Amino acid sequence: MRELVKRVAEELVSSDHAVALTGAGISTESGIPDFRGPRGLWKKYDPRLFTYSNFVRDPGGFWRLWLEVRREAFLADATPNPGHAALAKLEQMGILKCIITQNVDGLHQKAGSQNVIEFHGNLRYAKCLSCGTRVSIEAAEEAALRGELPPRCGCGGVLKPDAVFFEEQIPQEALRAALEHALVCDLMLVVGTSAVVYPAALLPRVAKERSTGFLWMMGVVSKPRDKPAKVVEVNLEPTPLTDSVADYTILGRAGEMLPKIVEEVERIVGSRRGS
Ligand code: APR
Repeated sequence: MRELVKRVAEELVSSDHAVALTGAGISTESGIPDFRGPRGLWKKYDPRLFTYSNFVRDPGGFWRLWLEVRREAFLADATPNPGHAALAKLEQMGILKCIITQNVDGLHQKAGSQNVIEFHGNLRYAKCLSCGTRVSIEAAEEAALRGELPPRCGCGGVLKPDAVFFEEQIPQEALRAALEHALVCDLMLVVGTSAVVYPAALLPRVAKERSTGFLWMMGVVSKPRDKPAKVVEVNLEPTPLTDSVADYTILGRAGEMLPKIVEEVERIVGSRRGS
């Protein structure tokens, strides 16, 4: 494993446009359950309850469920763990150019990462389905706790948590920016994702295969880098990327492996500076 960490650190130091794609697995060590792991949310709740069509069918029922799930899963007082801190450090060192996250917990920003693309939106707001006004998620939840189910906007419209639900579009700018980075990066660090939900799971493949066919329709203008990117996976278990896309797979906890990689990066950078 030490040799693998060393190789990955060397790849990061010699890269000139490394990006990270993160999933729920980077936040489990902060107490936030993932979705498909042994204690994942989808083991307890039917994911079909979190589709846009289910929300509009019964918004009041959804918010009742939300108040329960919110307490257990999207912990407002969760704090970043050493995995988040390690990625923030790589950004501060000028190595990591951006983080594309599927998570809506805001922990990368809390850890100090600046350039974060929130691919599935975030949980800071609830948005009115009629007029588009955003209110803080806390204000919407307080209204729901007072029995206003669903909570409503001043215009009378229904408020919905602003994260991307199943069946919803990825925010256009987030999708475009993420595809641009996937096309031009020369290293993608894929951390804590089962890589089964699209279009996020497409990003490591775009980085590898530089498949640009449909991207021009998304307003993606960057020219793909000529060589395939190196794809590095950090996960507790193999994923669909492991055999077909990943160049390196580090099996272990993100909160333990990422700091080890950064420690090695700092050693390499230090030795080169010293020489
Ligand atoms: N360190 C490394 N990997 C971990 C850790 C950890 N501490 N804990 C869990 N994992 C791994 C699991 O083995 C799994 O492969 O993280 C992955 C989490 O996968 P999912 O639960 O499917 O989460 P994610 O890939 O982010 O899901 C994608 O699906 O439900 C939707 O919108 C939701 O954004 C989410 C999307």
